[in-house]
Amino acid sequence: MRHSIEMEKLTLGVCYYPEHWDRALWKDDLQRMKQYGIEVIRLAEFSWALMEPEEGKYDFSFWDEFLALTAEENMKVVFCTPTATPPAWLSEKYPETLNADGDGNLMYHGMRCQHNLTSPKYLEFCEKITRRMAEHFNKYDCIIGWQLDNEVNCETNEYYSESDHEAFRAFLKERFGTLDNLNEKMGTIFWSQTYTDWDQIHLARRSTVGTGIANPHMQLEQVRFISHSAVHYLALQASIVRETAGDRFITTNGIFGNLDYQKLMESGVDFIMYDSYPNFAYAMDRPDGGEGDLKDRNSSFNLARTRAISPLFGIMEQQAGPGGWNFRIHQASPKPGQLRLWTMQSVAHGADFVSFFRWRTCSFGTEIYWHGLNDYSNRPNRRLEELSLVKADFEAIKDIAGHPYEAAVGILCDYDNEWDGQKDVWHGPLRNFSTDGWFRSLQKKHIPFDFVDFREETNLKDLEKYELLVYPHAAILTKERAEILTQYVANGGKLVMGCRTGYKDIYGRCPMQPMPGEAAELCGVTVEDFTFLAPGEPMEYVNWNKKRIPAPVFNDVLEPAFGGKAEGFFEGNYYDGKPALVTKNTGKGLAIYFGGCFAEETADAFLEALSIQTPAPWLVLPEGCELAKRGDQYFVLNYKAQSCEITLKKKVTDRLTGNEIEGTYEVAPYGVLVLL
Ligand code: GAL
Repeated sequence: MRHSIEMEKLTLGVCYYPEHWDRALWKDDLQRMKQYGIEVIRLAEFSWALMEPEEGKYDFSFWDEFLALTAEENMKVVFCTPTATPPAWLSEKYPETLNADGDGNLMYHGMRCQHNLTSPKYLEFCEKITRRMAEHFNKYDCIIGWQLDNEVNCETNEYYSESDHEAFRAFLKERFGTLDNLNEKMGTIFWSQTYTDWDQIHLARRSTVGTGIANPHMQLEQVRFISHSAVHYLALQASIVRETAGDRFITTNGIFGNLDYQKLMESGVDFIMYDSYPNFAYAMDRPDGGEGDLKDRNSSFNLARTRAISPLFGIMEQQAGPGGWNFRIHQASPKPGQLRLWTMQSVAHGADFVSFFRWRTCSFGTEIYWHGLNDYSNRPNRRLEELSLVKADFEAIKDIAGHPYEAAVGILCDYDNEWDGQKDVWHGPLRNFSTDGWFRSLQKKHIPFDFVDFREETNLKDLEKYELLVYPHAAILTKERAEILTQYVANGGKLVMGCRTGYKDIYGRCPMQPMPGEAAELCGVTVEDFTFLAPGEPMEYVNWNKKRIPAPVFNDVLEPAFGGKAEGFFEGNYYDGKPALVTKNTGKGLAIYFGGCFAEETADAFLEALSIQTPAPWLVLPEGCELAKRGDQYFVLNYKAQSCEITLKKKVTDRLTGNEIEGTYEVAPYGVLVLL
């Protein structure tokens, strides 16, 4: 398994829909793509109705005709299984394949993704079309890889059809064996929820508090089940394609909720392609976050998350113009320069392949306003002009492919806490708040970071490359994970943990033990008392290192234990003067427990106290610029509409222009530099 894309050089692609256009346009489209440096097209992800117009009648002639032309034009192809859009005949004849809401109402044909992921009938149809397609199309040399389905769990990541309830029962049987065990682990004695027959078990349907809320431990299992179903759904297709694919890659696109992508990587998918739409930051229905809002820069957060799954990846869909469906998600047009900036944002974060969505805006359907590189008119426009600049950029730095993003800071994340925290307001929102605080601080201080998926399989080597690891609010902290963190610290690592750590087990229950559970010895601390800061209460501060740092949202009042040392103290509230920050040295390293959430300013103070520096001390950047590092090359991305001044304390070359620069230098609005 490669887990990373393997491109020989930075490569451009585009999503193309020949089925939307007159045949007379095809050749010209392919030839113009090549003029713009596009070497790969993605095809067919929504074309089931064309390939199986009637049940069991497969007709691949349309794609044979198009692929013959593709081969003639020397264009490479990522071909897709079309299972995100089941045809009308299938949904009508087999309603058991449809997804349902929590009240059991079916989702009918008319948009896309109306199917569930578990119905044996749907899986049978998916299996058949995938097999037929793989056997038929894998003979085309122009096909370099496969995309499975399209954005699984995007339109919804909840499933309540009959087959889902059934599959959920089977999943629980497999996991817990007996009803007694399940009842015990799920704490069903509470409120008389005890199950006496497997058939009494359902996914969280409507209850007294609405749909989708039930016993919290069952709900965590429900998310694990959804992920399991999605992985199984894609793995099934992967195994079929693999039989005839030779060395072609197998991927899928996007990152969505309720899906463990690490498990997916172990189940037959080679790497992830991300779909990057930074212009959502300028959607008409998005509130203006004001001056401090990082807007399109927030996409760097998602790109970092992608990198945790596939260190080198591709962008299957890179925003090429304003987005919008006819009835929602309408957006302002990307400003001149943003298309290029966002493409380079993807590259800076580890993308070796960028494929735009889409070649031409569709002139019919829900996405008539999801603009491609070309307008309806097919006449030259400023987006195409900008594409020419991207082509030149890709040419100039093509050898950056294969060089991973480099970071000395890791933010640990894991699916147990993420999923449990989706419903548990006592820790999930805290983690979102604090991750955002760290992200902002690291961005503005130009310190690259990675997200690190913390799994049972994670070993010391995976962690040791980071000088600092931050694990904010790991409510669920297993013994095994605590042990690896202890070794990480002993070997010289710096670890920061926040309040609400270690008080839950893997079922989301709170065992009878002092908090912070498995983190107590690691951080040298016990939690004596705790509280949310109620609305209207003043901000709580902590005095640490002669600084006053915010400790918002929730406070753990601490007491040093196991050799820990109190270094920071609360100021105000009924726990005024009590320990808020405890440090413990183990071996060559240091663990810190902080009894609060991390606002940006809080994270700033930690970075300073722990001497975490930018990797480019010779480069002075304003806050509006992002710094990224791949190999020995530094990307500078200016997200602002205004030019900005940077200072270079040594002479370097901007690889995009070939210019040697030193001293003060002006970066254009939305400008990009790649420095060596
Ligand atoms: C993606 C999806 C595409 C297209 C695009 C714009 O999420 O994969 O098919 O819908 O968004 O809406």
